[in-house]
Amino acid sequence: MHQIPLVNLQRQYQQHCEEFNQAILKTMQACDFVLGKAVQEFEEKFAAYLGVKNVIGVASGTDALALILKAIGCKQGDVVLTQDNTFIATTLAILSAGAKVALCDISEDNYSMNLSSYNGARPKVVMPVHLYGFPCDLTQIEQKYGNNVMLVEDTAQAHGSTIKGRRCGSFGIANALSFYPSKNLGAFGDAGAVATNDDNLAQEVRYLRNWGSKTKYIHEREGGNSRLDTMQAAVLLVKLKYLDEWNLQRNHLANLYRKHLQATPEIILPPLAPEGCFQNYHLFVIRLKTADRDSVLKQLQEQGIGAGIHYPVPIHKQKVYANYEFAKQGFPIASNTAQQILSLPIYPEMTQQEVECVCEVLTRILEQTGRK
Ligand SMILES: Cc1ncc(COP(=O)(O)O)c(C=O)c1O
Repeated sequence: MHQIPLVNLQRQYQQHCEEFNQAILKTMQACDFVLGKAVQEFEEKFAAYLGVKNVIGVASGTDALALILKAIGCKQGDVVLTQDNTFIATTLAILSAGAKVALCDISEDNYSMNLSSYNGARPKVVMPVHLYGFPCDLTQIEQKYGNNVMLVEDTAQAHGSTIKGRRCGSFGIANALSFYPSKNLGAFGDAGAVATNDDNLAQEVRYLRNWGSKTKYIHEREGGNSRLDTMQAAVLLVKLKYLDEWNLQRNHLANLYRKHLQATPEIILPPLAPEGCFQNYHLFVIRLKTADRDSVLKQLQEQGIGAGIHYPVPIHKQKVYANYEFAKQGFPIASNTAQQILSLPIYPEMTQQEVECVCEVLTRILEQTGRK
């Protein structure tokens, strides 16, 4: 029995535990638990990292998306267009802001938003998701709508990914990031951020995350409580220093996977990032076109390999949305790929031997039983 989980947070903690412990201890000693020093320091450092003017730390990636939509004035009936294959937080956030969700299908080649599949009403906002860390083609948005829609990037999975030298999360009017623990830059609990070059929008998000208040007990907006926790900011400050190194290590592991799996006929490897772009391999997602994916997944898990599916049910087929307009539409490519994709373990501390072991077990399963 192997022991190779999808993600191994223990190793990262163990490798840097002294630094983490010190950072948390410092916060406890200072007792500046809410909007403390570390929050501001992280916001500044992460803004510099992304190449944007403002980062506002918030409580989660879901809140980041919802606060952006509220801050840009999305209201009842406004259409926000996103893609059918995403984590449900994307659409939950749109609905929580009172806007209407519209969905488009994805491209067969790279599982990213394909705007040409959408013929509905002109959206107010287009929200592409850099899924698995693969940088979406953002040029299609301008080609289709000119400058008449707002771009909001869901960058929850793409810390450090780039498009022509610019970081994902720096293109939109405002962009959302998640620091859920398993993300490439992950906190020790829930955390998120909004990134924007627009100072007014930044101020609006600052209001909304803090009860609509700039000065204590003076409330100028109908805000809520959605601040980045100081303890989490302290952890993120430690991790930010290693993010690029970790992303390169993920690329190294992804290349190893490619080398060992390229000759396996049942496997379609993940798309390569377009020229001049960089993907952070938040997930390494292969596709089994001619094999029984569910049986392969089960056998991998039985042998101690923590493969997964991201995501098994596309948004339009989620039970919770059964009565929504988009549930009645067909998204053939997103629907098909949901039945064929398989995420293999990847995390910066994974060893070459572990990658080789996953490849060996997987190819053996495919040889023995995998064919449909
Ligand atoms: C694509 C995507 N959007 C939004 C979110 C929401 O982030 P959070 O879990 O921090 O609320 C996540 C991750 O969880 C995600 O993967």
